[in-house]
Order: sequence, then C-alpha cells, then structure tokens
Amino acid sequence: MSIAIIIPDRNLDDLKQRLSSALPNTSIEIWPDIKHPEKVEFAIVWKQPKGVLAEFKNLKAIQNFGAGVDAILSDTTLPQLPIARIVDASLTKTMVQYLDGVISYYLLRFDTFNLQKQSKLWKPKSPRRIKHITVLGIGELGKAAAEHFASLGYSVTGWSRTQKLIDGVECFYGEAQLSEAVAFADVVICLLPLTPLTTKLLDESFFQYLKAGSILVNVARGDIVDEDALLKALDNNTLQAACLDVFSQEPLPPTHPFWQHPDILITPHVSAVTDINAVVDQICENYERSQKGYVLSHLVDVKRGY
Ligand code: NAP
Ligand code: GLV
Repeated sequence: MSIAIIIPDRNLDDLKQRLSSALPNTSIEIWPDIKHPEKVEFAIVWKQPKGVLAEFKNLKAIQNFGAGVDAILSDTTLPQLPIARIVDASLTKTMVQYLDGVISYYLLRFDTFNLQKQSKLWKPKSPRRIKHITVLGIGELGKAAAEHFASLGYSVTGWSRTQKLIDGVECFYGEAQLSEAVAFADVVICLLPLTPLTTKLLDESFFQYLKAGSILVNVARGDIVDEDALLKALDNNTLQAACLDVFSQEPLPPTHPFWQHPDILITPHVSAVTDINAVVDQICENYERSQKGYVLSHLVDVKRGY
C-alpha cells in the first residue's frame, strides 16, 4: 500500500520526508511519479488535475491539503470516497493575524497615505471610523476572527447557514438574514466556503445591502464574489475599498482590471497557507484511520460542499 501526494507546483520534499519518518512502513510517492497506481490507498491533494484521482482504483480516502475543498469537489470524475480537510490552530492563527493586519491597514489609512505618497502629498488624516465588522461564514476560521475582533471592542456580527451562538458576536443565519447581518458593517469579511449556494453570492444585489463606504475583505474564494459587481460597487462608492486575497482566476492575469484599481489591495492567496510542520500529524492520523476503516477527522460533507 502507498500514499500519493498530488500537489502540483509545490516543493514536496519536506512533506514526503516527514511522512516517511512518521510512517516508515508505507511508501510515499509524489504524483506524477507513481510506480504502482493500484497500490495507492490514500491521496493527499491540493488543486489536483481533474480526473487524476479516478486513476487510483484502490483509493480508500482523500486528504485535502488545506481547509477549502472546492477544487477537489469540482472534479466530475471524483470517486465517492471520504474526504478530510485541514483544521489546524496554526492556520486559524495565521488567518486571524492577516485579518488583524488588514483592519489596522484601513483603520490607520495606510491605503490613503500610500496613494498620497505617489503625488508627494503631505496631508495628515485621523483614523477611519471602523466600528462594526461582519464576518460571513463563522466556522473554524470565521468564528475565530469574529471572536478576535469582538475581544478588541468592535461590534461584530456573523452570518452562517445554521444558527450559532458566539459570545460577544451577534449571529445571523440563512439567506433571509443576510441583509440584516451586513446592514451596519464598516468592514465585511468573507470566510465562506465556495459551494453551489455561495457561488457569486456577493453580487450586485448583495452590495445593495451594504451601507455606503463599506470595505470588503475576501479571504475565502474568488468565485464567491461577482467581480464585475465588485468593480461597480467601488465605482458607485458602495464600497470605498476591497482587500482581495483570492480570485476567480489565480494567478490573477496581468490584464485584469483589479491590478490597476487604486482602491483594491491585492495579496496572492497568502492569508492562511497550510504549514507542513503543523499538519503532518493529522494527515498521518487520518491515513491510519482510513486503514482501520474508521471515520476520518475533519470529514467533509460532500453533499453540502464543505
Ligand atoms: P468551515 O469551518 O467549514 O466554515 C464555513 C462557514 O460558512 C460555516 O459557518 C457555515 O455555516 C458557513 N456557510 C457555508 N455555506 C453557507 C451558506 N450557503 N450560507 C451561509 N453560511 C454558509 O470553513 P473554514 O475552515 O472556516 O474555512 C472557510 C473557507 O476559507 C474555506 O472553505 C476556504 O475556501 C477559505 N480559506 C482560505 C484561505 C486563504 O489562504 N485565502 C485559507 C484557508 C481557508 P454552518 O456552520 O451553519 O454550516
Ligand atoms: C486555502 O486556501 C485553504 O483553503 O486552505
């Protein structure tokens, strides 16, 4: 039996070495150099090429190498197998740190001063008024972010699919409460998974729920936002700024209008990157669980899409 690592465009030597030390009796191979596909029983994947998982006829389980499983689920030839995702304290910490930085950036008007610098303009301004933060998606990452901002004294609302109770956070749920959840937001943070229900959820009608001059932070997936509607919302001042870490097409193509937009801050999908050191243990545990026929930890509900 063997484990296949299917993560294109990433140096995987360290991951392979760590897995080999933890599982000395198991062969670990990096796709596409798989000598015996019929021996592969466990696959560790991130943005796998479509169709590749169907080639492993004896696969028992799939371990996503990140939190969001939309890339796995978008494969129409995906075998019907248990899929686990990463849930990890270091991933959550990194996401909260990133969001903390973004809120400080806007609060202290670094965006404005950066633009002023380009015309050598010396014009002091007091901090922005950011009092209310809404987090869309209050699961592993969103809940931690919402709790963090509540602990700093912000008024925080959260929105999810099912009802939640989080100390210090006013929680809304379901489509019918989305407009209420964002009604007072100075900043909206998107931490939803990409599913059929969330695809282009942040569209023209969503932007109409926002008060003028809000800021959008998308750290979830690019396809949750209708990019044309976002540009329109910036043009008509519904949004005063957007910080985007994720895009419909990644890398963001050089001709994309977001690159030139003065009010869009772009980061290259870095808000929370899976740390190899931190996740080897949970991957090995899931491998062993799959071998014993146990339920995987952090199992994905494939029907729900996350
Ligand atoms: P999670 O624990 O599965 O939480 C998802 C949250 O979204 C839950 O609160 C869920 O509500 C809510 N939700 C899902 N569908 C919804 C809908 N149709 N309407 C309203 N709420 C809905 O996910 P997570 O671990 O926090 O991660 C969230 C996403 O962040 C990932 O899927 C991934 O795409 C993204 N991410 C990005 C990066 C990056 O580097 N940019 C890093 C990690 C993750 P219920 O709890 O009620 O079901
Ligand atoms: C990163 O985008 C993740 O989903 O882990």
